[in-house]
Amino acid sequence: MTVRDLQGLAVSGASSRSLSHFETALSLFRCYRGDPLAETDAALADSPGFAMAHVLRAYLHLLGTESAALPAARASYARAAALAGTERERGHVAAIGALLDGHWHRAGHLLEDVAIDHPHDTLALQAGHQIDFFCGHARMLRDRIARALQAWRIGRPGYHALLGMYAFGLEENGDYARAEAAGRQAVVLEPHDAWAQHAVAHVLEMQSRQREGIAWMRANCTAWTADSFFQIHNWWHLALYHLELGEYEQVLELYDGPIAGDQSALALDLIDASALLWRLQLQEVDVGNRWEVLAARWEPLAEAGHYAFNDVHAMMAFASAGHVDAAQRLLAAQQRARQGDGDNVRFTAEVGQPVALAIQAFVARRYAECVRLLRAVRPIAQRFGGSHAQRDLLDLTLIEAALRGGQLALARALCAERLQLRPSSPLARRLRTRVTTLTAEVA
Ligand SMILES: [Fe+2]
Repeated sequence: MTVRDLQGLAVSGASSRSLSHFETALSLFRCYRGDPLAETDAALADSPGFAMAHVLRAYLHLLGTESAALPAARASYARAAALAGTERERGHVAAIGALLDGHWHRAGHLLEDVAIDHPHDTLALQAGHQIDFFCGHARMLRDRIARALQAWRIGRPGYHALLGMYAFGLEENGDYARAEAAGRQAVVLEPHDAWAQHAVAHVLEMQSRQREGIAWMRANCTAWTADSFFQIHNWWHLALYHLELGEYEQVLELYDGPIAGDQSALALDLIDASALLWRLQLQEVDVGNRWEVLAARWEPLAEAGHYAFNDVHAMMAFASAGHVDAAQRLLAAQQRARQGDGDNVRFTAEVGQPVALAIQAFVARRYAECVRLLRAVRPIAQRFGGSHAQRDLLDLTLIEAALRGGQLALARALCAERLQLRPSSPLARRLRTRVTTLTAEVA
């Protein structure tokens, strides 16, 4: 008899007991909380031939962009490939194979096909959504989910996750009102949905609604922090609101506490730490020896050359802490990555390496070089992934480099551009004031 999961999808090699562990793993993964890997392993302990459990295990090791996790992902892939008994399972296996080969875009396409045939396959949608994020594929962040939504109704298990992903996709395409409504609805349905919480945080960030953002994150903090492995990034969003408001003490408190306090060694957590210290540094806030500590945490990843977006954030720490050797090793690893295969070749060549060099130039006060490099990559920066809010750091660095390098006409133009987008942004206003003051001094 065919065994089917909660969504009615046929699964090969499962027992009722292992299926229960697998469903728990999926529901935890949809909220980015708990330990979905432990639940997956429990499923496999019961049913070693459970193909989709091996599939999930592979994704869990691939979607953190950690090169150290590749061997475990490869082992799960081999097991899944031998066990896949349905077209859907074979679609997942093909997507994982593409990811292992570094073909992120291809993996995203393969998962589109799985979700077109099986719009209730939340894992295909979620893995695809994460891949769209890592590829900076804004349109598909929205439309991969939009296609499936017509097959969903409130009450179906996991509906909150569809709304949360759709909210983030809408936000990355500037459809803020609909994004906010979908995200808030998702959090009402599932207060632990950290991704939906995050989607609304993005809307409030992009619309420069800092006080509302702080209220949104503080209102039910326990729900998105308890046992969450996405909480550092959500804390980072809270810190961004305080940073915009010039409330640097709160920012440093958040950095020393939930953002960097646990000394996580994961790339996605280190990115948030770097991005926050860098923004503080741009605003000339004294960050003490924090760069030194952070650079030491990045050190094991200096030569990963696995994902350009990570490299850039590692470079912020190495350059700022004066770790010249690590910075050079990072650039050499990027050079090797460009000779490789897979999408990171282009992520690195087109965006990652020029930005890493721009970061280095900024720290060395070679502002004209920094401006030149950043202006060139600015129109295509989405190609190395991340969100608008994360990549805003490039714009902020460009403005600061123009200001410090005496390119005041450019700085004025960039500030004007920023104020048009965010008329109520306190940071944009502070920058404009600095441009005006500097211009007066020069005249
Ligand atoms: Fe975010």
